[in-house]
Amino acid sequence: MTDAEQQLVTELVIAGVERREARWLVEEFGDDPVALELAKRRRLRGEPLQYVLGHWPFRTLDLAVDSRVLIPRPETEELVDVALHELAAIDLAAPLMLDLGCGSGAIGLSLLAELADRGVHASLVAIDKSPDALANARSNAVKHTLHSVTFVSSDWFASLDRSLRGRFDLIVANPPYVGNDEFAGLDEVLGYEPRTALVARDARGVGGFADIERIIAESPEWLGPRGVLVLEHGEAHRNAVLRACVDAGFREHHDFDDLAGHPRVLVARR
Ligand SMILES: C[S@@+](CC[C@H](N)C(=O)[O-])C[C@H]1O[C@@H](n2cnc3c(N)ncnc32)[C@H](O)[C@@H]1O
Repeated sequence: MTDAEQQLVTELVIAGVERREARWLVEEFGDDPVALELAKRRRLRGEPLQYVLGHWPFRTLDLAVDSRVLIPRPETEELVDVALHELAAIDLAAPLMLDLGCGSGAIGLSLLAELADRGVHASLVAIDKSPDALANARSNAVKHTLHSVTFVSSDWFASLDRSLRGRFDLIVANPPYVGNDEFAGLDEVLGYEPRTALVARDARGVGGFADIERIIAESPEWLGPRGVLVLEHGEAHRNAVLRACVDAGFREHHDFDDLAGHPRVLVARR
């Protein structure tokens, strides 16, 4: 950093911005005083740093993120590892994947990019109910020149072309899974993110379980014979996801903890 940039960092720190974040803001906006001032005000008002910067790393990709989409989480990076492991076990040259509730595109686009790095030419269908999220995900696909993706506006599987039934090798999903009651007690940063990305109705007497229940119930008919569902869920959802898998007729299912030791990722095979 130049002396002038160091000076800007110091000014931000004096104004109340945490030093590491002040450096990031100066790296991003240091050559534009008006943009830097605006960024400082947004951050000091409590807006998440990721939205203020307008982009955030997720695995190998730098994703554009704004208030239209959920900020991609570290535990979701772990879900991508699980999905890559599952695909490697099926060992297909050109898998067909479905990303349900794609948001910024974090999961599906990462899979496309990392599979391409391994010489696997996958195709992706990315669904979201939010047109705003789809626009954001589209821009991330363009940014990373990921072309083998089709974006579909849909309420989960409802508008998906019926000809795709039984065709997917992998379905990945990080659906909303926070219950209304739980949401009220969570970090205020979540108030900046789209509520529809976070909060789900209760089901089976379990908070925030309705979308997960629907995805587990409807996935089998869209998976191919060796297809696998990899789904992120809340800490309190383990028993309910495993029961839902039995009800949906999945042949095999396992549930894994995240690196923090919380129940987090379901893997279910047809
Ligand atoms: C928790 S966010 C996950 C975003 C992204 N996949 C990620 O992991 O960062 C859930 C996403 O599901 C979408 N969504 C919520 N309800 C939906 C529905 N009924 N059908 C399709 N997408 C839905 C939201 O718009 C949001 O983008």
